[in-house]
Amino acid sequence: MVKHTATSVVTIERYIIEQERMYPEATGELSGILYDMALAGKMIANKVRSAGLADILGAAGGINVHDEIQQKLDVISNEIIIKAFDHGGRLCAMASEEMPGIIHIPDGFRMGKYVLLFDPLDGSSNIDVNVPVGTIFSVYRKITRGARGEMEDLLQPGRRQVAAGYIIYGSSTMMVYTTGQGAHGFTLDPAIGEFLLSHPNIQIPERGRYLSVNEGYEGNWDEPTKALIRKYRGLDGDHKPLSVRYVGSLVADFHRNLLGGGVFAYPRNTRSPNGKLRLLYEANPLAFIVEQAGGLASDGTRRILDIDPTELHQRAPLFIGSRSEVELAQTVYAAEPASV
Ligand code: AHG
Ligand code: MN
Ligand code: MN
Repeated sequence: MVKHTATSVVTIERYIIEQERMYPEATGELSGILYDMALAGKMIANKVRSAGLADILGAAGGINVHDEIQQKLDVISNEIIIKAFDHGGRLCAMASEEMPGIIHIPDGFRMGKYVLLFDPLDGSSNIDVNVPVGTIFSVYRKITRGARGEMEDLLQPGRRQVAAGYIIYGSSTMMVYTTGQGAHGFTLDPAIGEFLLSHPNIQIPERGRYLSVNEGYEGNWDEPTKALIRKYRGLDGDHKPLSVRYVGSLVADFHRNLLGGGVFAYPRNTRSPNGKLRLLYEANPLAFIVEQAGGLASDGTRRILDIDPTELHQRAPLFIGSRSEVELAQTVYAAEPASV
């Protein structure tokens, strides 16, 4: 791998090409998917930034497959990603958190050997109040034989991802991705419209500083979950109390904890027995990144990346972040299984 110093200027494009050169057999298709995602991210960043001025804040009038109110920007971001990818010849199918079924490549376009799953705008209920939101994506190689992608290609366990990442539209726009060779972060320089390498080979601290959980659900948690959160907060046992930080945009909470150390928890509760977060669009891609950064992701008992999905929109409880904090969750649930 080419070594970069903190002062060298490296665009995401050059970085992707350099990583690809490590694999002489690579066809460049996966690199193309990553550039296209960076491009879609820039287009969405532009919409998000001007949303308050362009009458694209607020609800779109529809309800998505998760019974959530679709924001106009959910719909716009979803369309931007589909348009960035459906004609490129690199994908054979897609799936989106905002759409009920498989998204086929329109007739007449070339089919590629990858599938893409995405959450076009994560945290979108926060958009009207200017809180960071993001895009999350996940790429798998096709496993069926025909030209068109099938449901089976989309329902693969997360450990088979070949690339995953997110774009955070925060005080700056950043893209973080992995292809299994570490997790790398790029910051958008708005003056030149390029993502520049700013966070090579991210490593999450072994222990946490932050706890991100919605404590509003405490009354709906089971006993082991209540006990775990008390431990994280230093109220029971000898854990150093973590600082509680909860944005309500998974990408933003995850990103902070990735850089600063911590754990994001969305446990089961009696209102949402499998938690809220979607395995394929949210948990798996972030799990791939966190593992590449030396952290862990679990549903409390299983490694997220080992869960065999059975449907596109299935949910999973999520404990993700610094190694020792996720291990604590697994220890607590091993002693007393979740009872929701
Ligand atoms: P999305 O906007 O893609 O539907 O995701 C919202 C998710 C996630 O970003 C966040 O962590 C979580 O919902 C917050 O849920 P609660 O409001 O239940 O805490
Ligand atoms: Mn989301
Ligand atoms: Mn979303």
